[in-house]
Amino acid sequence: MGTELTFSIIKPNAVKKNAIGPIIALFEKNGLKIAAAKLVRLEKAQCEEFYAEHKARPFFGELVSFMTSGPVMLMALAGENAVSKNREIMGATDPAKAAAGTIRALYGDNVGENAVHGSDSPQSAMRELNLFFKETEFVNK
Ligand code: CMP
Repeated sequence: MGTELTFSIIKPNAVKKNAIGPIIALFEKNGLKIAAAKLVRLEKAQCEEFYAEHKARPFFGELVSFMTSGPVMLMALAGENAVSKNREIMGATDPAKAAAGTIRALYGDNVGENAVHGSDSPQSAMRELNLFFKETEFVNK
């Protein structure tokens, strides 16, 4: 079982509440390493491409406007079974349903402003990492 990579975003509401540090601490405490990271403000077109699969959903406009409302922390996380491990650490999409101690239970405000994004499969991770870290060497696996 080798090291796997996944893609993570700390969303604008969590950046705003100064939770970058405690969220990264949870990743590191649970066996995921930061293999690449950058703090950026997403552009609308870039965000729409990232969330293309949700384009037909009623919340798409709200999602894009929230995700472009302030800085986000983009990260590549590395570790054994990184994709599923990250999803466990994040908790359920809706913070109200997320298990105690998970990132979304701790820092999420509602289903849209749910503190973090994480790839839902190794295939999505590849696509998402390619969108944001195409030229980046992952130096901390
Ligand atoms: P994320 O993992 O970033 O991928 C798609 C996002 O859509 C999801 O997290 C949620 O934040 C958001 N989302 C899902 N359902 C809703 C909803 N009913 N209203 C607003 N946003 C939603």
